[in-house]
Amino acid sequence: MTTPKILVFPGSNRAGSINARLAGVITKELALQGAEVTRISLLDYPLPIFDEDLESEKGIPDNVMKLARLFATHQGVVIVTPEYNSSLPPLLKNMLDWVSRVSKDGTKPLAPYRGNHFALAACSGGGLGGIRVLPHLRDILVSIGAQVITEQLALANAYSAYDDMENLKPGRSRELLGGMCASLIEKSKWMDRL
Ligand SMILES: Cc1cc2nc3c(=O)[nH]c(=O)nc-3n(C[C@H](O)[C@H](O)[C@H](O)COP(=O)(O)O)c2cc1C
Repeated sequence: MTTPKILVFPGSNRAGSINARLAGVITKELALQGAEVTRISLLDYPLPIFDEDLESEKGIPDNVMKLARLFATHQGVVIVTPEYNSSLPPLLKNMLDWVSRVSKDGTKPLAPYRGNHFALAACSGGGLGGIRVLPHLRDILVSIGAQVITEQLALANAYSAYDDMENLKPGRSRELLGGMCASLIEKSKWMDRL
């Protein structure tokens, strides 16, 4: 395989989301480095709060199946998430939980996360850049069968991080972003769906 398909989405639906902005920059970088990138917004996949009774009564919602198929048809995934009280925002956790319930598509087996390579990024307007959410998200993804690459980015002071061309200003964060994208592309080329 030469051109890996990589799915990118932010864990925020907020108008003016700084994580959506960073997801845009990561999308551009991945494309420049040769990946085929699909950028989505969770706004287009509204979901109820997960509830086992709802699942038993009504089954898996269509939007969950759509997301599960997207995970399954990409070799790499980038999640760009806000940090809420040092952990995941409910929008993202709810989506991950719903999609983890998918094991088949019709009669065919479907394991949406298994074997995919994930890269994780966060940002905040503060000085820590959301660094505390990343190990929480990493643990969850590993526990549900994903491969999470070592390279990650926590972008601090996100409101002043960009130049006029909507690139990260030169410095450590820009280097980390480039390295994270390169590593994800390389590993995704060799993705082995287990
Ligand atoms: C409930 C809540 C908890 C938050 N907790 C944190 C936190 O632990 N660390 C942090 O850096 N920012 C925290 N923030 C601030 C977010 O980083 C900020 O709202 C950010 O803009 C959210 O990302 P978005 O712009 O992509 O929606 C919190 C915000 C909310 C609403």
